[in-house]
Parts: sequence; C-alpha cells; structure tokens
Amino acid sequence: MAITVALLPLTVTLIFGLACILLLYYLFVKKEKPKGLPHGSMGWPFLGETFSFLKPHKSNSIGSFLQQHFSRYGNVFKSHLFGCPTIVSGDLELNNFILLNEDKLFQSYYPKSVQDILGKLSLMLVSGELHKKLRTVALSFIANSKSSPDFLLYVDNLTISVMDSWKGCQEIHYAKEAKKFTLYVMLKNLLNIEPEEQLASQMLEDYLSYMKGLVSLPLCFPGTPYAKALKARARISRTIREIIEERRKKEGPKRGDFLDEMMNKRSEELNDEERVSIVMDLLFAGYETTAGLLSLLLYYLAQAPEALEQLKQEHQSLTKSKKHGDPLSWQDIQQLNFNSHVVNETLRCGNLVKFVHRRALQDVNFRGYHIPGGWQVLPVFTAVHLDPSLHDSPSDFNPWRWNDEAINKKVNPFGGGTRLCPGTELAKLEATIFLHHLIRNYRWKLKEDTDFPLSYPYLEFSKGLKLEIQPTNDIS
Ligand code: HEM
Repeated sequence: MAITVALLPLTVTLIFGLACILLLYYLFVKKEKPKGLPHGSMGWPFLGETFSFLKPHKSNSIGSFLQQHFSRYGNVFKSHLFGCPTIVSGDLELNNFILLNEDKLFQSYYPKSVQDILGKLSLMLVSGELHKKLRTVALSFIANSKSSPDFLLYVDNLTISVMDSWKGCQEIHYAKEAKKFTLYVMLKNLLNIEPEEQLASQMLEDYLSYMKGLVSLPLCFPGTPYAKALKARARISRTIREIIEERRKKEGPKRGDFLDEMMNKRSEELNDEERVSIVMDLLFAGYETTAGLLSLLLYYLAQAPEALEQLKQEHQSLTKSKKHGDPLSWQDIQQLNFNSHVVNETLRCGNLVKFVHRRALQDVNFRGYHIPGGWQVLPVFTAVHLDPSLHDSPSDFNPWRWNDEAINKKVNPFGGGTRLCPGTELAKLEATIFLHHLIRNYRWKLKEDTDFPLSYPYLEFSKGLKLEIQPTNDIS
C-alpha cells in the first residue's frame, strides 16, 4: 500500500507526459500540414488579419497589406480573414480557375454580416438551380433594357436634365450626382418611379446607408452604420412589397416596367419574396458600381488631356453622322472603339470590385497549391489588374494599351464564370451616353489634388470628387 502511494506522483507524471507526447504527435506528425498549403500568417486569434486586409488604400494600388504579403509569401498566400481560414489569390490563372469552377469546386460565400444586408435570396448568395432561375430573370431585364429605344431615350433625357441642373454652378460634388443618376435610371426602369418623386430620394438615402453598412463592422447597436443598413434594407424591401401589393389591387393600364413583367410570371415560377429580392439586387448592383464607373471616368479623363481629346473627336464624328437630337443607339455605342478602350482602362485602373468571396467545397490542388475544403478563397482582381508581369506600367492610365486585344484575358473587373456580372453592357451603355453629353457640353477639373479613389474595399472618393465645371460652346 505504502509503495503504491509512493508511486502515485510518478504514475501521474508518466500519464501526463504520455498525453503530451500523444498530443504533440497528433498535432505535428499525424495532423501534418497538407503539402502545398500556401505560406502565410494566420494573424491574431479570431480576428486574424482582417483589419490590415481591409485597410483603405488608393484603388489604383494594391495597398500595403497585399504588397507586403505578396513579397513575403508570393501572390497566393494563406491568412485568416472575416473569421475564416483563407487563401488569398492575386494570381490570374488561379483566379480564373476559381471563377470557372463555381458550384463544382468552389461556391459563392459572403460573411454573415454581408448576407444579412443582401438578404438570403440575393443572387450573390444563392447557388444551384435557384441561382439559375433568378439569374435568368435578371438577365432578361438587362437584355430588354439595352435594346429598348425607350430605355436609351430615358437615359439620354435624364443625362440632359442632370446637366441642365448644373447650369450656373461652378462646382459640383460629382460622386453623389453620379449615384443619383444611376439610381434614378434603375428606379424608373424597374419600378416606374420618377426622380422628382419623394420615394426616389428616400430610396437614394436608404441605399447610401445600405452601402455604408456593407463595409462597416457588423455591430448591431442602435446608431451604428451596420444597424442603420439593416433598417434601410428592411425599408426598401417593404416599399417594393407594398408597390407589388398595390399593383395587384389596382387593375388598370400597365406601366410597362420590369416589375410588371415579373408580376406576369405565375407564382409557381416566381414568388413575391423572389421578386422583391431581384429588384433589390438590380437596384443595388446596377446603381452603385455604375456610379463608381462614372466617377472614375471623370477622374481619369481630367488628368489625361490626350485621351480626352481623342474621345471628343470620336463622339463628335458620331454626332455628325446622326440626325440632330437623335439619341445614341446600342449599335452607335458599339462603334465607339476608343470610348470602349477608355471605359475598359478605367475599370482596370480604378478597380471597382477589389475581390469576391468564395469557399472551397472540397480539397483542391491547383498548380502545386493546396486549398483545403471548407476554407474561404478570395480571388483579388486588383492584384491581377495591377500586376507588372501582365501590364506595362500598370498604374498608368493608358487607354491605348487596349489596342492589343490580348489584354482582355488579363483582367476581370466583372468577375467570371457562371457569376459573370450580367450588367456589364448596361453599365458601359449608361456611362457612354453620359460621357457623350458631358464631353460636348462641359469642361471639368478636379477641385482638390488630394481627392482620389479609395478602395474601402468598395470604391469611394475620399472627398466626394468635387469638380470645377464650365460649360463649353463647342456643341455640334
Ligand atoms: C461598372 C459596373 C459594374 C461592375 C464593375 C460590376 C462588377 C460585378 C462583379 C465583379 C460581379 C461578380 C460578383 C461575384 O462573383 O461574387 C457582379 C455580379 C453582379 N452584377 Fe455587376 N457590376 C457592374 C454593373 C452592374 C449592373 C449595371 C448590374 C445590373 C443592372 C449588375 C448586376 C449584377 C448582378 C445581379 C450580379 C450577381 C450575378 C450572379 O451572382 O449571378 N452589375 N458585378
């Protein structure tokens, strides 16, 4: 008995030692890290490196976080972001591989806080058959709009009225003007809401809050941007639902907008929750990014007099070939080759969408990189757009580089694969019509040298893009 008691501490020590050895074996030998897992750092517990990754930087740069990580670990690295172990890719081939394998090896996956604002039926979040069904409806709106003379005429008239409203002004806050313009185009064509209606300005304010919430910390206390965004989302969704219910009650002449078209679909094809969600997606995706494009265009052209001159000449010769006052048609826009180079270069340099969120559905091996199943994957478009091994002097705004068609394969401002942005042509069309009137009617200058596009990670101008404007007399 005495011997047994004397041996007790030794036995406990032995068991403890054995347990430690087993644990170490499990951690370092048995659970050996998979070969090919990219290098990188997982940062702080839970927070990982999220704050450094999201630190705002000029949108024509990749920012200090990516710069440091790419030079230390290469342009594919591991990290811990938005609460998940993550592979970050700044590699063109890996990015394309991720986008092209949607629903096979990878799937769209946004953080919970973003999901709560977008809504569970948002196109960006749903997958499989539901994604196909909702996307087809969204695509039909976009296809009909771009070929509809009424739509083109509306964009043309709204552009003219925006520019008329600048008469007598020497200075404008252009970023907000662009947001108003693109939201009002969408509101009219989706819901038949006119810019002068009180509902239009209420929607604008709600979408501004919505956007601020998307990029803020997900703190749901009264008064935080996140809480305000959730409220704004609920208000927008309620308003669209009320419009649907009102239309259903009032039998009468159709308005011919997209909501009417969706309401004609039987409820087995589309229910009201899906209708509301599609309208919200198109309003949001259609206005915010296109407004960013309009702002970036003016920002870059203000600093590129040669490009602006060539653009003016191209638009002027198109105007001369048309009957006075006729709006641009889709075919006219296709002919504007240099205009298309300017828009494409603006998207490459300005980087409206820095990255997208995906998740690996299983273990994936690509070119020696191992991506564990369940990990988050972030293809970073900005890194590819500004990669000096793909583009000469990548941060220079040089629309002529688009004379080489090979560049099309080295950029993806609109994403790719089955989630390729359906609004690509609509955004280019709106931007072109706006430019067509602007360059013939106004000269503009950046008011402040210190105002530049920031990646927040969504695009924002640090001072709202204040412009000095002056009407020209060279209207032909
Ligand atoms: C310059 C303007 C635009 C840019 C840079 C842009 C960029 C993008 C990108 C990168 C995606 C892919 C997101 C992902 O893969 O997770 C996307 C998706 C989407 N965009 Fe755009 N977009 C623009 C304009 C528009 C417009 C005008 C509309 C509609 C009127 C629109 C509607 C959508 C929709 C509905 C999706 C989701 C598609 C899906 O998941 O199937 N976008 N956009």
